[in-house]
Amino acid sequence: MGGAEGERGDKTQMNGKILDAINEQIKWELYSSYLYLSMSAWYDSIGLRGFSHWERIQAMEERDHAMKFYDYVLSRGGIIELQAIDAPPSLWESPPEKAFEYQYEHEQSVTAKIDNLVELAHEEHDHATYNLLQWFVDEQVEEEENARTILEKLSMASDEMGMNILFMVDKELAARGYHPLVTPDY
Ligand code: FEO
Repeated sequence: MGGAEGERGDKTQMNGKILDAINEQIKWELYSSYLYLSMSAWYDSIGLRGFSHWERIQAMEERDHAMKFYDYVLSRGGIIELQAIDAPPSLWESPPEKAFEYQYEHEQSVTAKIDNLVELAHEEHDHATYNLLQWFVDEQVEEEENARTILEKLSMASDEMGMNILFMVDKELAARGYHPLVTPDY
């Protein structure tokens, strides 16, 4: 016997506004993945392989963020509606910190989107979604801190020691590991 039908004919009572907002957020997480993959390719093309590696892992983590929302919607019997993803810029301006400035601003805009989702979940009394979002609230603190810390180091690369600092940061970023989020068996 099937479950009760929700607002979209899906097998859940998942709130329609929340479902739309999460489907939209899946698009933004996938766009972030695209954006950082584009930065990774650009850093590689200018010989900064550590930066390229770091951004490639960032792109993988963004895809994981999208999949965390995706799995959540499916676990509640909601309907996934994948949306069109814009192409990111493919050429980034020198010096190398310009792309990181853009990344920092992009992460701040993602934080604002997550905060809006938290407010919506609160208004709609959707406690399960509210709980899920607390993970993303914490994650955004880390995301902004990562970008800001690297930017601070790069800001020191403008003096005569610049190239040394740049290559030091490049080496440090090359050591980043990838830790996939736990996903359900499928
Ligand atoms: Fe998934 Fe960097 O926000």
